[in-house]
Amino acid sequence: MSSLAGKRLVIFGCGYVGTALARAALAAGAKVEALTRNPAKAAALRRTGLAQVVVADLASPDWHGQIAGGADFAVNCVSSGGPDTYRQTYVGGMASILAWAARSAAPVGTLVYTSSTSVYPQGGGATVVETDSTDGTTPSGAIIRESEILLQSAPPAVVRRHFILRLAGIYGPERHRLLDRLRAGSSQLGGAGDHRLNLAHRDDTVTGILACLGAPAAIGSEIFNVADSAPAPRTEVVRWLAKKLGRPMPAFDGSLAARRGGAPMPDRIISNAKIRRVLGWRPLYPDYRVGFGNILSP
Ligand SMILES: NC(=O)c1ccc[n+]([C@@H]2O[C@H](COP(=O)([O-])OP(=O)(O)OC[C@H]3O[C@@H](n4cnc5c(N)ncnc54)[C@H](OP(=O)(O)O)[C@@H]3O)[C@@H](O)[C@H]2O)c1
Repeated sequence: MSSLAGKRLVIFGCGYVGTALARAALAAGAKVEALTRNPAKAAALRRTGLAQVVVADLASPDWHGQIAGGADFAVNCVSSGGPDTYRQTYVGGMASILAWAARSAAPVGTLVYTSSTSVYPQGGGATVVETDSTDGTTPSGAIIRESEILLQSAPPAVVRRHFILRLAGIYGPERHRLLDRLRAGSSQLGGAGDHRLNLAHRDDTVTGILACLGAPAAIGSEIFNVADSAPAPRTEVVRWLAKKLGRPMPAFDGSLAARRGGAPMPDRIISNAKIRRVLGWRPLYPDYRVGFGNILSP
């Protein structure tokens, strides 16, 4: 893996993953720059040692002149706050990054996009790999797929190489809604319990991004799923957590999950075999027991 030391990395979107990525990249010696809409977050990021933090809306061109082009690395990890901003965040945001990259004589070296496994329509217990069709996905998954296609269509003079990381459900320190619900004593949980939960720990997401940034030049643009190695039924995860917390097992109310636009959560296994094989990535948290176990007793 080539080193990040001394290289320029621009992070678009400083939420849960973006902020953790900034910390990890700084520790690896990269010169990190970031874009956020949030002035307080910008100030906090500057204090951690980022070389530059620009406060702007990604989808607008206002910031294009404020961040120099030709970065060694860029990571787009913005996330929409809700359905009203979905298209602007994902499609508008990606279009804006590509317009920024095109302004410079030098291309962005490697651009990583944290996409989502929501682009896949598959269910019925299928094992889902990167070559599987995305036809028939949900309306929100289709918007994310559209932003992926924008990136895939960028010429090498704009982005020399890109990686699309299709992330499973991210959890980790301070982000564990299921655990929070059980701790709050909920006797009933929304949704069903029979589908598998495909999870990706925050730190494994960050190491996945870093593995892409450090990938040898011989590896070209790719799509990788990022998920842990042992998705388990939601019932099993809830039962395990309830036991750990000494709480009774809650019931599932069977309601349709809003996250899938009212469609039931699909039962499937998101395969991480490709990123393991091609980049040698290995999850630090290969299953929910290790991940939640670490959260419960860090
Ligand atoms: N969370 C999941 O389970 C999950 C699953 C699959 C894929 N993903 C993808 O993984 C990535 C990281 O997710 P996350 O959990 O870290 O998300 P997050 O915590 O919600 O952070 C996303 C950040 O995006 C920023 N943002 C949104 N719109 C923006 C805009 N127009 N201009 C500038 N910044 C904007 C927001 O930053 P400000 O505060 O600066 O506005 C927010 O902090 C995202 O690309 C997401 O789509 C997430």
